[in-house]
Amino acid sequence: MAAVNGKKPRVLSGIQPSGNLTIGNYLGALKQWVEVQHDYDCFYCVVDLHAITTAQDPADLRQKTRESAAMYIAAGLDPEISTIFVQSHVPAHSELAWMLTCMAPLGWLHRMTQFKDKSAKQTQESIGAGLLNYPSLMAADILLYHADLVPVGDDQNQHLEFTRDLAQRFNHLYGETFTLPSVMNPQAGARVMGLDNPTAKMSKSEAAENHAVFLLDSLPAARKKIMRAVTDSHREIRFSKERERAGVNNLLTIYQAITNESSDAIEADFADMGYGNLKRAVADCVASTLEPLQARYYELMTEAGYLDSVLKLGREKAGAIAEATLKLAQERMGFLAPS
Ligand code: TYM
Repeated sequence: MAAVNGKKPRVLSGIQPSGNLTIGNYLGALKQWVEVQHDYDCFYCVVDLHAITTAQDPADLRQKTRESAAMYIAAGLDPEISTIFVQSHVPAHSELAWMLTCMAPLGWLHRMTQFKDKSAKQTQESIGAGLLNYPSLMAADILLYHADLVPVGDDQNQHLEFTRDLAQRFNHLYGETFTLPSVMNPQAGARVMGLDNPTAKMSKSEAAENHAVFLLDSLPAARKKIMRAVTDSHREIRFSKERERAGVNNLLTIYQAITNESSDAIEADFADMGYGNLKRAVADCVASTLEPLQARYYELMTEAGYLDSVLKLGREKAGAIAEATLKLAQERMGFLAPS
């Protein structure tokens, strides 16, 4: 997408501070965020309001919010270029989310795969209404900034379609107000699977010990998890969509997402090798990604005041844009402006 009238297209994305970030979050989201930051006008938030759609311990949530923001920077976002902020610091997110919630058809919300998956793990009595309304809040995040592009892993594509549909509905009812955003998935790594179960997406909230490599895992721990990754009883190392070959495909995908090599080149490199060699190669490239990221992260966490100043600036920049869009949407919907 090229700049129009010298203005860079806008990007918005976010990650929930609901657990420790994984290499899935890095390869599906963060890595792309860093890559596009010079070409687009980028807004990246820590979506704490989304995190409370499932139960969170207050002290933990606060800590994870800081950690996530620090991780954004450690992964390579430059706060002088990208706007980094906390979702709840900009009240317009909650306000627009309510307006959109009132317009979101229940049928659309009930069709969301993420809602179906997450609610299946709980009893009706324990599912908060926020879990169902979650996509309206995500739509608010995106529409407040008139984002053109939303870099995410492919599990979020359905929410993006929902956002477009809801924006269209609003524009149709109240006049052109919101920009319709497009999804941006990485070429490789759009869906990193669990190392222990390669038919399920790697998730930061899955407790099994060998499921995910976390960005703050010690390098030996990360290596160990990769060396223990589930594979199969075949020998051939090639990309494959077959279910029983999902483990090897996942390792190759992680390798490809980090090295940016073509599938043909990777298959040729591993042609005469065994699964042990593949795992060692993946472990090496994951370790060389984590090492500098962790060094920067721990440095940031000890720099008193720095993170707060980044988030304060982010809140100011994001807040000004979000407020203006909210005001317009309120006016269009018919709210009486305060005198
Ligand atoms: P969340 O917190 O579940 O995940 C954050 C980002 O990481 C990507 N991701 C993955 N990518 C590849 N493989 C995986 N195993 C994997 N796991 C997670 C997700 O696709 C996502 O890009 N609803 C969002 C957060 C959100 C948001 C937004 C995103 C709220 N508002 C506005 C974009 C724009 C979510 O739950 O992400």
